[in-house]
Amino acid sequence: MKIVLIGYRGSGKTTIGKHLATALNVPFIDTDHLIVSQAGMSIPEIFHKEGESGFRLRESRALKEALMLGRGVISTGGGIVLRPENRILIRTADLVVYLTAPVSILAERIRGDKNRPALTNLSLEEEIHTLLKERSPLYEELADLKIDTSTIDVNQAVAIILKKT
Ligand code: S3P
Repeated sequence: MKIVLIGYRGSGKTTIGKHLATALNVPFIDTDHLIVSQAGMSIPEIFHKEGESGFRLRESRALKEALMLGRGVISTGGGIVLRPENRILIRTADLVVYLTAPVSILAERIRGDKNRPALTNLSLEEEIHTLLKERSPLYEELADLKIDTSTIDVNQAVAIILKKT
């Protein structure tokens, strides 16, 4: 069983993904971690040296590799849905789960995180608002299941996903 978690930064993909993988007794793969270990650089360093486009290239490669591993829960970076080729790959999963939360909650969860470089020159809330305008339809289009993580805890989110497996 291959499950892919998508959604904006701070929506809970990594936390919920880890718990879900444990519950299913399958490997957990985080595309951001794969990118960092393969590059030998942090995400901000990759953005600095190679730009966002360099990061996106690495991200497509990491997604391909993660999906080739067979069974597992794959947590993705918030921007993974931007490239059409990634969306085609994501559709090959058995279950795609879109995690979401209100902008103010996403902002509080990620504010000050040095591992998440700014993607625009806007304020954090404005950035999230603007990028979600572009990304939300892409997340929605791919999702088999959508969960608002702002009103439930990790175990409740995992239980909802498990019902779909
Ligand atoms: C990004 C989200 C990050 C990471 C990179 C770019 C984005 O992943 O891939 O900083 O464009 O939204 P998380 O969603 O795990 O924070």
